[in-house]
Amino acid sequence: PEPGWTVAADVVVVGSGIAGLTCALRLRERVDRVLLVTKTVLSAGSTQWAQGGIAAALDPEDTPQEHLDDTLVAGVGLCDVEAVRALVTEGPDRVRELVALGAEFDRDAGGEIKLTREGGHHRDRIAHAGGDATGAEISRALIAALQRVLDDPGIEVVEHALVVDVLTAGDGSACGVTLHVIGEGQVDGVGAAHARAVVLATGGLGQIYTSTTNPPVATGDGMAAALRAGARVTDLEFVQFHPTVLFLGEGSTGQQPLISEAVRGEGAFLVDDRGERFMVGRHELADLAPRDVVARGILDVMGERGLDHVWLDARHLGARFLEERFPSIVARCRELGFDPATELLPVAPAQHYASGGVETDLRGRTSVDGLYACGEVSCTGVHGANRLASNSLLEGLVFAHRIADDVTSRLAAGELPERRAVEPTDEPARLLDSSQRIGLQRTMTRGCGPLRSADSTARALVELEALAALPTGAAEPGPRTWETTNLLHLGQALATLARRREETRGGHVRTDFPERDDDRWLVHQGLVRSAEGSLVVGE
Ligand code: SIN
Repeated sequence: PEPGWTVAADVVVVGSGIAGLTCALRLRERVDRVLLVTKTVLSAGSTQWAQGGIAAALDPEDTPQEHLDDTLVAGVGLCDVEAVRALVTEGPDRVRELVALGAEFDRDAGGEIKLTREGGHHRDRIAHAGGDATGAEISRALIAALQRVLDDPGIEVVEHALVVDVLTAGDGSACGVTLHVIGEGQVDGVGAAHARAVVLATGGLGQIYTSTTNPPVATGDGMAAALRAGARVTDLEFVQFHPTVLFLGEGSTGQQPLISEAVRGEGAFLVDDRGERFMVGRHELADLAPRDVVARGILDVMGERGLDHVWLDARHLGARFLEERFPSIVARCRELGFDPATELLPVAPAQHYASGGVETDLRGRTSVDGLYACGEVSCTGVHGANRLASNSLLEGLVFAHRIADDVTSRLAAGELPERRAVEPTDEPARLLDSSQRIGLQRTMTRGCGPLRSADSTARALVELEALAALPTGAAEPGPRTWETTNLLHLGQALATLARRREETRGGHVRTDFPERDDDRWLVHQGLVRSAEGSLVVGE
C-alpha cells in the first residue's frame, strides 16, 4: 500500500506482549529512538491470557540442566540445545528482573515465590500470579513500566496500528514496516515507519483454526509479513493443541476458555464417559505427561468411544481451594454454567500455540538482515516439535533481552545501515476478503488439525489454492482483509510443511504415518516465499 504518512525511529518494535514490551523497554535505555506499535491496545495480545505461569529453575533444589532436560523431551528431538541452554540458564535472572520491575508473583508464607508443576516438568518450577492470571499480571507490570517512561522522547507508542508489510531496501535488508492505523492518535490510514532495525513480536496464528485459546488478534500478521519479506519460516507444521479447553459445543468458534494445566498440576485428572482415568498407564506422568501426549490420549479416547469431548475432574480439590488458586478459571466456568467444584468439566483439545515461526539465531536475527523476531512469532529452536508448558513467556523474556543487546551493539558498531526511506516496491499481495475467514479456518481445522493425513492436508492445499485464486474483487484494503490474507499465506505454508512431514511427532498425529520416524524426519523444514507467492521448501 502507498504510505500516506511516515514516522522514523532507530528501531521499530511491533507487538506488545511480554516479548515486545520487554524488548522496547530495554532498547529505550540504550538507543535514541524506539517506536513500539501494536495492533489494538497494549494489553490485547496473548500474554495477558497466559494462565499457568512462567517456568524457571528458581527453586534451590532445581537446576537449569533439569529444566533443559524436560524441555528437550517435550520438543521430541527437534530442540536446538544451545537455544534451550540460553533459555534455562538466563531465565531465572530474567524472572527476578521482572519481579524487580514490579510483577507480583504468588508467594508462600515465608515470602518465597510459590512454584507449581505443569505437564512435562519433573519439578515444581512454574511461577504464577493472581493464582491463574500470570500473564495479566506480567502485562500489567510491563505496561506500567512503559507508562513510567512515556514522557521520555526516546520512546513512542502507536496503538491501533496493524503491521501490513516489512519494508526492505535494494540489498534485501529490513528498513521499516508499513502500518494501517485505525482512527486513533495523530496518524490514520496507511503509513510507514522507517527504522534501522525491525523487531517483530506479534505473537501467534491461533485464529487460523476454528477454535483456539488465542485472542482474536492472533492472526499471524508479523509471521506473514516476514514471509512476504523473504524471511525463512521454520517448523510451522508443529502446532500445539492444548489438551484441556472447555468444550462449549462443535459450533463454538474463535477464542475458547482454557483450563490451565496447573489445574491438573494441583491434582485434577481426566476421565472418560465411564469415569475411568485414561491417562494412567499411558505415560509415567499420567495426567501431567507433556501436552502432546495428553492431547493424543484424549483424541484416542474420543475416537474409541465416539465422544466429542472428555471430562476433567477437579471436584476433590474443593470449592475453597479452587476459588483461591484458580479464581479466573472458576469465575469463567461459572459464567458459562459449569461449576468445577461440583461438576465434571467437558474438555477437548484446541489450538494453543505455534511452536514454529520465523527462524532466528540465538541473537534473534532472522534470515533477513535487520529483521528480528521474538516470542511466539519466532522459531528460536527452544520448542522443537512441541513447546514445554510455561516456556513461552520465558522465551519472550529471554530473547527480548538478547535482541535488544544485539541491536544495541550493532547500532553502536555501525553494522546496521542508516535509515532508508524506501517506498514499497513489490506488487501488493492479492487480498482475500474477510468473509472467507471462517471457510479458511474450517479448511485448516479439517486438514491440518491434531489428526492429519496426506489426504486431509492435500485437500486443505487445494481449498487454500482456490481461496488464493479468488479475484480480490470486493476485498477492501483494511485490517480485517489484511488479517485474513495473512491467515491464507500462513495456512498455505503450514499445510505445505504438514503434508510433507510423513510421520507423527509433537503436537499432531499423521493417521497415515502413526509412528515417529527418526531415521527420516529428525529434521526441520523451513520455507521461503518468492515475490510471486510460490513456496520453496528446504531442510
Ligand atoms: C496452561 O496454563 O495450561 C498453559 C500454559 C502454557 O501454555 O504454557
